[in-house]
Amino acid sequence: MTSNPPLIEIDQVTFFHSGREVAAEPALRGLSLRIEAGEFLALIGANGSGKTTLARHLNALLVPTRGNVRVLGMDTRERRNWPEIRTAVGMVFQSPEDQLVSTTVEDDTAFAAENAGLPPDEIRRRVDEALRAVEMWEERKRPPHQLSAGQMQRVALAGVLAMRPRCIVFDETTAMLDPAGRRNVMEMMQRLNRAGMTIIYITHYMQEALLARRVVVLSRGQVALDGLPREIFSDPRRLAGLGLELPPLTALAEGLQEFLPGVPVGALTPEELAEAIPAPGEAQRARHLPEAPPHPAREAVIEVGNLAHIYMKDTPLAHTALEDVTLTAGRGAVHGLIGATGSGKSTLLQHFNGLLRPQSGSVRVAGRLLNDPNVTVRQMVQVVGLVFQNPEAQFVEQYIGDEIAYGPRPLLEKPALRERVQWAMRLVGLDFEQYKDRLTYSLSGGERRKVALASVLALQPQILVLDEPTAGLDPLSRREVLRHLQEFQRGGMTLVLSSHQMGDLARLTERVTVLHEGRDVRTGTAAEIFSEGQQLHDWGLEAPIAVQVADRLRARGWPVPRGAITTEGLVTAMAGLAAKEAA
Ligand SMILES: Nc1ncnc2c1ncn2[C@@H]1O[C@H](COP(=O)(O)OP(=O)(O)OP(=O)(O)O)[C@@H](O)[C@H]1O
Ligand SMILES: [Mg+2]
Repeated sequence: MTSNPPLIEIDQVTFFHSGREVAAEPALRGLSLRIEAGEFLALIGANGSGKTTLARHLNALLVPTRGNVRVLGMDTRERRNWPEIRTAVGMVFQSPEDQLVSTTVEDDTAFAAENAGLPPDEIRRRVDEALRAVEMWEERKRPPHQLSAGQMQRVALAGVLAMRPRCIVFDETTAMLDPAGRRNVMEMMQRLNRAGMTIIYITHYMQEALLARRVVVLSRGQVALDGLPREIFSDPRRLAGLGLELPPLTALAEGLQEFLPGVPVGALTPEELAEAIPAPGEAQRARHLPEAPPHPAREAVIEVGNLAHIYMKDTPLAHTALEDVTLTAGRGAVHGLIGATGSGKSTLLQHFNGLLRPQSGSVRVAGRLLNDPNVTVRQMVQVVGLVFQNPEAQFVEQYIGDEIAYGPRPLLEKPALRERVQWAMRLVGLDFEQYKDRLTYSLSGGERRKVALASVLALQPQILVLDEPTAGLDPLSRREVLRHLQEFQRGGMTLVLSSHQMGDLARLTERVTVLHEGRDVRTGTAAEIFSEGQQLHDWGLEAPIAVQVADRLRARGWPVPRGAITTEGLVTAMAGLAAKEAA
């Protein structure tokens, strides 16, 4: 052993998940990687590429089938090293609720430190410090399960911080967070890193990976690329081959560079990009902004009137989730629903297939009044397909093929059923032969999400309601799913999508409703809603990257139309303006 071993050394590691079919591929194959103290590393890669499996090797939750992992020189295979290894490397997972175990925030934060047998005074000191660091000290007496997702995430992080680790691994920690929550976690990671902590960050958001100092790309259990963000994100075709894509800002810069040669493709922020584009001449500044064309009038298929919902009504724990919500979605439209964590989106969506019934107000879907108790959920599932935020909770079968066949089974003969399952799996990018006999519990996070989507699509409902449909999907899968949703709409399906991915919704939706603290504070066209950057920010949301750049270009005198809310839209608009400028 050298006198100064690297923080983490992964040497030729191969790993087979136990319980998997013997012929199955290993999740990691001969993977080697060295991580030095103080690094800020983003770990990215397609669904199932081995990111989570690798992460769990870093604090001995898993040990290699072959090869070695050493943390500060200690072999993770040796059980006597585990306490020290787990003190050195902490983990924050995607679903914080799985990590929270105690009845108050404070106790929860102390949990790991207590297990490690630290003296009570020391624990108290560390817990206070950790809760202040994540800005949850004020909430220390509250029960963790009452917190928002973002707050739970911070408490989970505080528990890890109280162990004073050298390194923290964040496994898709931001996937379920609203834009404000995501910004918060990103800032926290940067702050910790500046204070000397090693950060390993697993994400499907390329824009976030751009902020790391080193990016490692996994593919089928191996390191495919390892380098600076600028290098990794320089070749779109190579990225696509790995299930990835350019960060939106980089894609925008590439598009603009075609006709504005000065645009820096390596820009890291919207400011940096916009400032590299020279201000236009006088004639351009005087130009009027064209209006966005109106959308077609549509017949209402979902009508919500003055809906209110109080959880645990008439108890001391009563919590108002919806208050006087009114909304109409047109037949054949894609209707977006946005709002910060806890704004009531999921509660509203569960009224669309009768899982929740109006406590006051009314809900009418496809001609059926859901206030009427004779309208059953069973009737509604044929009409409305609902995919929840948390797909695992929905699984009823052991094998993936059966899970997807579950809905249409009573409706179809065997050959047609098999065809339907194949069709649905194709839509979400799951290979039928490879996955049909896999166990539902033995999947990566993204693979589970795909199974949940496929099982609802297999019913071919008239109305598809999706709560965070793309969370956990790798960029290419996300793109594919979004493309199919667009096709469904063209085929006449009505879609209601709730998401924190403003860029995706800007591309897909016709109209958008904003929920804020249980109320519908605004409904408008996607262009109207998404072009209001400051307003979105005040609601805990954010504008799509294209809008953030467009705003700054307008400030510099470019008459960019408000309808330019996507990367493609902004590139097209700027191409037109640049041509006039040159003429
Ligand atoms: N408990 C398990 N049992 C059997 N196989 C598993 C288990 N967990 C994961 N796998 C398989 O191991 C491979 C790697 O999975 P892993 O969870 O590491 O991927 P990932 O890169 O984190 O994916 P995602 O982006 O979807 O989270 C996949 O083929 C997956 O199906
Ligand atoms: Mg994972």
